[in-house]
Amino acid sequence: MQEHLEQIRAEALAEIDAAQNETALEAARVKFLGRSGSISLASEGMKTLPKEQKPVVGKLLNDVRQSVTAALDNRKAALEAARDAAALADVDVTLPGTRAVSPGAIHPITQLQHRAISIFRRMGFALADGPDIEDEWHCFDALNTPADHPARDEADTFYLPDGRLLRTHTSTVQIRTMTAQPPPVRIIAPGAAYRRDEIDATHLSQFNQMEGLYVDERVTVADLKGTVEFFFHELLGKEARVRFRPHFFPFTEPSFEIDIKAPSLGHDKWLEIAGCGMVDPAVFEAVNQKRGDNAYDPEMVIGWAFGFGLDRLAMILSGITDIRLLIENDVRFLAQFRA
Ligand code: PHE
Repeated sequence: MQEHLEQIRAEALAEIDAAQNETALEAARVKFLGRSGSISLASEGMKTLPKEQKPVVGKLLNDVRQSVTAALDNRKAALEAARDAAALADVDVTLPGTRAVSPGAIHPITQLQHRAISIFRRMGFALADGPDIEDEWHCFDALNTPADHPARDEADTFYLPDGRLLRTHTSTVQIRTMTAQPPPVRIIAPGAAYRRDEIDATHLSQFNQMEGLYVDERVTVADLKGTVEFFFHELLGKEARVRFRPHFFPFTEPSFEIDIKAPSLGHDKWLEIAGCGMVDPAVFEAVNQKRGDNAYDPEMVIGWAFGFGLDRLAMILSGITDIRLLIENDVRFLAQFRA
């Protein structure tokens, strides 16, 4: 019986070793380990053995079964590895892919932000930031906007249930910056602003602004005009014209609206692009009160601020006529802005 088992083992191992594919290997498995395979039959034969031989033969039988099973597993792994290697032998990893790669593009608003930031950087302006979710104090009170001002109306502002709000302009960053650092201040702050506007081809309820703030001793309206003009000449070309119109904002005095006109904008109309003015002393006073010092003493410091609307400018520069395209993320639209 032992001899017979050793013979089965030798035969099985040789056959497994010789199997050239998975079909041949499966045939070998059935032949030796299948229900009527020779190892199974030998196992049946155990019943007729004298009692004292059973432990020895049983142990050998187990050993044969285990070595045949292990040989099957090893051979299977070897065949699979050989098949994978053969498949990969034909692959040239240095060839270009069959599917076109589709590179991303920088959104027109972001492109404009980047250009604007780099122009103001050259004039020594630092980047500043503030949260989109604000409180009424930073958005209105500190900016000298009284409680009954229409801009605070629920019809214009998104209020959160807890009384906070989505900032209606980036002028909040003026306050955030001045409460955090003493003068001099020279910052720009690009970012989103929110108003409850009816959405149409020229209005979104979320839009983009860029705030500017300059506070120091002896700052004048001439600095404001010079800075704004330099910016638009850099952005739109030397032919760009800039016009200041008297206006009103609660947080600047005097206040102006800025219009621009440039051949590179593709039409000959004045475009209303920004609000600006000299920082109202009441704003400095609110900041001082919050800071608990007199760092922004209205007798000592003077400043100006502006807030540009970026969306309309980006639209004109990119030839877009419907503002909604800027937020729809339609790849057919965005693909044209690939560099
Ligand atoms: N915050 C104003 C607006 O959104 C613009 C502005 C900024 C005006 C700074 C004056 C100074 O309309």
